[in-house]
Amino acid sequence: MNITIEKTTSPKVKPESSVLGFGKYFTDHMFIMDYTEGEGWKNARIVPFDYIPVHPASTVLHYGSEIFEGMKAYRKADGSVQLFRPIENIRRMNRSAERMCLPQIPEDLALEVLTKFIEVEKDWTPSDEGTSLYIRPFMFGNDESLGVHSVKNATFMIITSPVGSYYKEGLNPVKILIESKDVRAVRGGTGEAKCGGNYAASNRAGDRAAKIGYSQVLWLDGVERKYIEEVGAMNVMFKIGGEIVTPSLSGSILPGITRKSIIELLKSEGLTVSERLLSVDELVEALEKGTLEEAWGCGTAAVVSPIGELCYNGKKYVINDNKIGETTQHLYDTLTGIQWGRKEDNMGWTYPIK
Ligand code: PLP
Ligand code: COI
Repeated sequence: MNITIEKTTSPKVKPESSVLGFGKYFTDHMFIMDYTEGEGWKNARIVPFDYIPVHPASTVLHYGSEIFEGMKAYRKADGSVQLFRPIENIRRMNRSAERMCLPQIPEDLALEVLTKFIEVEKDWTPSDEGTSLYIRPFMFGNDESLGVHSVKNATFMIITSPVGSYYKEGLNPVKILIESKDVRAVRGGTGEAKCGGNYAASNRAGDRAAKIGYSQVLWLDGVERKYIEEVGAMNVMFKIGGEIVTPSLSGSILPGITRKSIIELLKSEGLTVSERLLSVDELVEALEKGTLEEAWGCGTAAVVSPIGELCYNGKKYVINDNKIGETTQHLYDTLTGIQWGRKEDNMGWTYPIK
């Protein structure tokens, strides 16, 4: 695909690593391409980062036809930049697109435009410990009409943002509230798609949790409110009496790439992760008996994030003395070691940028 490049004439000053936080600063350019049914993807372009014109009747503004991805570019000690399993994000994006009746992007086209765009923006990848260039590909339905149907026109964009840690706690344990009123998703719904609406509907519970000092909520299943699903922006894993457990991909959970990588990593070390139903009752029993050794969340933005406190129905449970556990630390070190190129990538997960 021919990608036109219009470079900015007023490059921004790059922020210091200490002020980065998550998703507050954006780089100099953005990628855009358009889709029309019958014509396919067209007008691929890299242009200066700016506002975009959107028709007031555009599908996304009324019916929420939107999906996104989250991935990172990492700067290695030798100054080069690499991605982590980009093909997994591309495949998940196409699965989300299928669910939300948005067009597919052929995998090689998606990889080509992503790579080209990151080549242009790679100087924005920060180099300090724990920092990276967050990559946000997204697609939205863009018909200029109020009829409700699968879209005929769509827009795909990529924006990038230099980031530090997602939680203000960094690698210190976070506090998570088990949510028993709202639900995030049900099987057959959109829970396993990475679509904007899932997050909009999650904010009410998230805000309630934040008001009483919790970073995010841990969702229970939407039918019985009995089984553990995932946290707002990460999958969740527990070590109970030596067993590493994570909720199985039931259809209502986002199939995280970090989750998948941890399972594969532990398998390569001869360890098994049980992907199974885990009820909140089992979890509470383990917390009360003291057999819940460790809990952590995992995701691109959150990396591997220890959970130091869980609250359920008003009762607070501290995990591992509110300290990062051995397995959590090992996973954090191994995964970030591969991502930032400090450890050899025996898994074939890294993808160098020219
Ligand atoms: N679950 C939710 C709801 C998320 O938003 C994310 C973040 O993308 C994850 C899980 C973790 O997915 P991944 O590891 O692919 O980033
Ligand atoms: C990610 O980890 O990439 C996410 O998309 C989480 C997010 C909603 C901030």
